[in-house]
Amino acid sequence: MSKQYRITLLPGDGIGPEIMSVTVAVLKQVGEQLGIKFEFQEALMGGAAIDATGNPLPDETLTACKNSDAVLLAAIGGYKWDNLPRHQRPETGLLGLRAGLGLFANLRPASILPQLIDASSLKREVVEGVDIMVVRELTGGIYFGQPKGIFETETGEKRGVNTMVYSESEIDRIGRVAFETARKRGGKLCSVDKANVLDVSQLWRDRITQLAAEYPDVELSHLYVDNAAMQLIRAPKQFDTIVTGNLFGDILSDAAAMLTGSIGMLPSASLGASGPGVFEPVHGSAPDIAGQDKANPLAQVLSAAMMMRYGLNEPEAATRMEQAVLKVLDAGYRTGDIMSAEMKLVGCQEMGDALLQALA
Ligand code: IPM
Ligand code: MG
Repeated sequence: MSKQYRITLLPGDGIGPEIMSVTVAVLKQVGEQLGIKFEFQEALMGGAAIDATGNPLPDETLTACKNSDAVLLAAIGGYKWDNLPRHQRPETGLLGLRAGLGLFANLRPASILPQLIDASSLKREVVEGVDIMVVRELTGGIYFGQPKGIFETETGEKRGVNTMVYSESEIDRIGRVAFETARKRGGKLCSVDKANVLDVSQLWRDRITQLAAEYPDVELSHLYVDNAAMQLIRAPKQFDTIVTGNLFGDILSDAAAMLTGSIGMLPSASLGASGPGVFEPVHGSAPDIAGQDKANPLAQVLSAAMMMRYGLNEPEAATRMEQAVLKVLDAGYRTGDIMSAEMKLVGCQEMGDALLQALA
């Protein structure tokens, strides 16, 4: 009997639709090869949803996502929607999706591919061999803490407020995901916080330290976030798995991404305790190159591979897709963001065709 999965596609804005269409073609081909059927349903999200409905995450979209086996998201946002009130911004839709599906664990791998070492802005000897997994807490911390907002004080002056808050249970559940992840990788976990200043970070450090007793095979260390930012650029090979809160994880995962040459290469998985996960590239919607067939679809394809591996438990499909990405890079195909001397510059569509050939 062939397996069938219902996938909600959220192409979103900017380069989103272009990289999504390449990825769907890749999924279909792999599916045919392995006897896996996909039922794709497309839904509106982000700026596209704002234009159509006024809401960046319409109820039908969240319902469709909840009723699927996995959600594949491309990218959202753009200049056009940047000045709308917060509740109507594309980013608010993304946060609503994460909260609505309970996706507290965000896995962001950053490993350097040998083919792309020269695309990194850092020296070869610094980045060669880098293989980091950032485990970012995704539904708590300062992104969601109350109170939040812009309030007027008695003197009429405005005050902007956000609250960084973590409860013990929130720290423990992301901590467990991180220890389990580290255990399956290099066995090293670095927890990043700002415990020298923030009480919320002190609690974070205390809980992570306590959890370590349950994982004697994992070597735990702690870093303050400023030092972690420096170490990531100075000597990234010291890291295996990193666990951190929502805001620090947002920042550090962009920095880690850049070690690998281009943020256009990096996938991510957002997982909850149960139910469908959301799989999306770490990069944004790149409105400056949207619609010009210049986008790099590889992070989206690798996100779909993560969907197969972590979301649908189809490791063979994931491996085939990852191998296809390596093959096209070996063959010298490069989009603009990862272009280097003597390589073949291609657009999004041509990169997609090369992937299909590599799979065949
Ligand atoms: C990310 C993005 C989002 C975040 C934005 C678009 C809300 O930067 O996924 O890293 O801050 O989480
Ligand atoms: Mg970010």
